[in-house]
Amino acid sequence: MKTITINDLGSFIGKTVKLKGWVYNTRSIGKIWFLIFRDGTGLLQGVVVKGEATDDTFALEQKLNKEDSVLITGMVKKEPRSIGGFEIGISEVEVINHVTEEFPISSKAHGADFLMSHRHLWLRSKRQNAIMKIRHHVVNSIREFFNNNGFILIDSPIFTGNAVEGTTNLFEVNYFERTAYLTQSGQLYQEAGATAFGKTYCFGPCFRAEKSKTRRHLTEFWMVEPEMAFVDLDENMIWAENLVGYIINNILDNCKNELEILERDIERLRKIIPPFPRITYKEAVDLLHSKGREFEYGNDFGAIDETILSENFDKPIMIHSWPADIKAFYMKRDKDNNELALGVDMIATEGYGEIIGGGQREDDYDILINRIRHHDLPLEPFKWYLDLRKYGSVPHSGFGLGLERTIAWICGTKHIRETIPFPRTMARLEP
Ligand code: 4AD
Ligand code: MG
Repeated sequence: MKTITINDLGSFIGKTVKLKGWVYNTRSIGKIWFLIFRDGTGLLQGVVVKGEATDDTFALEQKLNKEDSVLITGMVKKEPRSIGGFEIGISEVEVINHVTEEFPISSKAHGADFLMSHRHLWLRSKRQNAIMKIRHHVVNSIREFFNNNGFILIDSPIFTGNAVEGTTNLFEVNYFERTAYLTQSGQLYQEAGATAFGKTYCFGPCFRAEKSKTRRHLTEFWMVEPEMAFVDLDENMIWAENLVGYIINNILDNCKNELEILERDIERLRKIIPPFPRITYKEAVDLLHSKGREFEYGNDFGAIDETILSENFDKPIMIHSWPADIKAFYMKRDKDNNELALGVDMIATEGYGEIIGGGQREDDYDILINRIRHHDLPLEPFKWYLDLRKYGSVPHSGFGLGLERTIAWICGTKHIRETIPFPRTMARLEP
């Protein structure tokens, strides 16, 4: 007899099989009772009929509790009216572990903090299952996109000697006799990678000591960062929109069930097809003003500004040509206007905010060394980075896509903390 999983039931109609999983629910109508059961791949209704199941199994009805782990034997039937389209006529249920205390998470409404404190158990719920499966597919499609397009995976280190994205949100680590920092971004190492391999990417956790408690910030989040030699800002934007288009397409193909569980408006996602609109920072500011929003040229956009901007478009927008003062030290300046940096931010639709930050990098040695000084950064840890401008420097660009922000957008979840298995925020280190 074969042991199978719920997502594979279709190949076993009429066969007697074993399944391993957990009790989701039970209900009774006299001489028959139903065992709703989950195994991580789906939900299945089992039917237990007096006389058809063993006496011990039939008697279990009063004894089973939610989340008991069980081994089930029975015959698979097609049943369009049942969850998932199948049913199993149970002959035997073997209990592996019996739950003696009530499972903390019930169908009644719990507060967000309670659920987060029980994240290790909450992950079993239908909605969290759907979000994590979408995360799995988003990660997969990102790797597929870069692997199919000639990029080489170059892992950036997590311990670093310097800041990348400003010095205000660095996590310090005691590193033997000196101070190290947890990386905020793997970009600088990808710049070394791009000059060694042409096109590279890294995909891993990044850390920012964000003191903000917004629904968009984690202290530990995942970022994918491609970097490309001989690529300017315009081509960089084409790569960025194609990546996002590829991810969305993949999720629409592979996660129909999950999007349905999340009640996501799929029509909105179907419209996310490149090319995406490009607007300059100045045009974005004008657009805000035209909508009556007060905003001073030279500031960075806040969450509300990004929401207002996104309302005008069906697709994500790419805002480029930023005031250099609010962008990082490594950004190349516009050759026609030295006040502008060749950076680009991609803002998702429906108010989900910035999902990508990137741009063309400064490739001139003298200009870059002055920038580092101007930003009050120590030169020593950047010596290797400056070398890249001494030996065969080329125009190059790249970007970073925030994984959790992208998942929140795709899933339509308000808060980013539901998009990572075990979120780390200012207030949470457990579970
Ligand atoms: O815009 P950021 O800061 O850009 C960089 O780090 C560049 N060095 C990337 C590059 O060019 N290789 O961050 C990129 C993206 C943001 O658009 C956002 O999606 C995500 O990373 N992000 C965060 N996500 C969750 N929590 C945080 N605290 C985040 N900070 C940035
Ligand atoms: Mg940014």
